[in-house]
Amino acid sequence: MIINLPKIIGHRGLKDLAPENTIFSLEESVRFNLKWVEVDVKISKDNVPFLLHDDLLDRTTTGKGLPYHYSYKEIFDLDAGSWFNKKLSTIYPPTLEEVLIFCSNNQIGLNIELKPNKGKEEENVNAVSALINRKKINLQYYLSSFDYFSLILIRNKMPEVTLGYLIDSLNEEKSINSIIQDCLNLNCFSIGFNINIIDEKLVKKCKENNLIVTVYAEKNIEYTTAQKLWNIGVNSIFLDNPVNYKIFLS
Ligand code: G3P
Ligand code: MG
Repeated sequence: MIINLPKIIGHRGLKDLAPENTIFSLEESVRFNLKWVEVDVKISKDNVPFLLHDDLLDRTTTGKGLPYHYSYKEIFDLDAGSWFNKKLSTIYPPTLEEVLIFCSNNQIGLNIELKPNKGKEEENVNAVSALINRKKINLQYYLSSFDYFSLILIRNKMPEVTLGYLIDSLNEEKSINSIIQDCLNLNCFSIGFNINIIDEKLVKKCKENNLIVTVYAEKNIEYTTAQKLWNIGVNSIFLDNPVNYKIFLS
């Protein structure tokens, strides 16, 4: 699949404007004319891939504890909206299947980030790959993860799928050269860096190895910062709030 990532990808939908990782959040992205969105995925006790960022249900839903202690039916009954806005109490954590259909219907691309349910990496990958293979939806998408083990599992299950490696920090053991080598070994398409570690030299190295560079941050990336990132060769940024990007997006 040939993927042309736009300069902006909605982060967990648009996480500053709507409850993250919900259909409502994806609808906000469409309203702002975004062409791609990113979501975080893991599985329930009955192996249903659904959207959740954290290890636990607690911050973004009315549930408690680990998601794989609950069936998706139980997770569907949770409120994933009122932590963000009391009026949004009918919002639930959607399945990845619903998200695939939403993105296909709205013709937007999808970055599926696999959050490794610790110890459940294999089940995670099996459930997501089975769903994607079964749905055969007409959609631009790629899978990414911070967890290299999960990427290996995906590559084994889905030899043709587009893959991205996410990198939060660099150190002696995890140098940029070894990361690039890891990417090449799995035929990855992109590396996604934390904004705290990105610089021009890093981007150049990735580009020399034909790797697309994306950047994410804990807080929304301001427009002036985004321009600097694009100027040093970053392909795409993950954005929480595009309000100051309106001219760019119109
Ligand atoms: O995929 C980019 C970004 O989503 C990674 O960070 O913690 O927001 O999932 P996080
Ligand atoms: Mg993510």
